[in-house]
Amino acid sequence: MQTGTPWDFRSSQELLMSGIYTDEGYLIEDADYHYLELMKKEIESAFSEFTTLQKKKCVTLENAHQVIANDESNDLRLYIMQKISAGTSFQRNYYNSAKSIIHHLCGNELAMQKRPGLSINLPGNNSDILPIHADTWNGVSPFELNIWIPFVDCSDSMCLYILKREKYQERLKTCQGLLNLTSDELFNELRNDLTWIPIKYGKILAFDQSLPHGYSLNVETSSHWSMNCRFKGLHTPYWDKKLGEYFMPITVKNCTRLGIKYKHPDQWV
Ligand SMILES: [Fe+2]
Repeated sequence: MQTGTPWDFRSSQELLMSGIYTDEGYLIEDADYHYLELMKKEIESAFSEFTTLQKKKCVTLENAHQVIANDESNDLRLYIMQKISAGTSFQRNYYNSAKSIIHHLCGNELAMQKRPGLSINLPGNNSDILPIHADTWNGVSPFELNIWIPFVDCSDSMCLYILKREKYQERLKTCQGLLNLTSDELFNELRNDLTWIPIKYGKILAFDQSLPHGYSLNVETSSHWSMNCRFKGLHTPYWDKKLGEYFMPITVKNCTRLGIKYKHPDQWV
């Protein structure tokens, strides 16, 4: 990717990754498997606790729908999120599993979403649909990077869908009032332009949440499990989601720490 400025010192690898992310709206890379496995074990353990409490059979994540009723999927989701976000080890593993892609696209002095989100989409469960939206339409800063991690192999309707940047810009130009439609109307309007992103366990998806995205009804025979978590440069602007509440600083560099504490020696001036 040519940036046309002699002051752009990013490496060729970073420029290549950035070019794909900019053009497509997303990028898929290998996860650091060690940290990914640690997270998966924590999720499986919380899932097993939930099924034991409910006196249900213990099954794999893919087969969750065999024991979880459609109206229980949100309770399960909240139970697991509360378990894994109680300390900070899960969040540390999350960061480490995707560190390379985060550093390339976002930076290394970072703030991270305090409680990563979990999505469980059971086959045929209408309440697990995530209506089409862009996070920036609702007060989310465009400086954020969404790191989305599948915990099962995702194909067809199990995938996250996105409207790629070029299509989005084209439709914004040609369709007046697009953003005044209801989410169902918008989905139907854009349906043929959407891309469902197939991804297997072991990979990391980084996507631009300022582009329209969502989940349609899962019509496959496996349950979908994925997590999403936002990262942003620590010093970039915050909109509705504040530092210290929604975001926590995770890699504050020493010069920033010293700068925050700096007191000018006024008496010597
Ligand atoms: Fe979103």
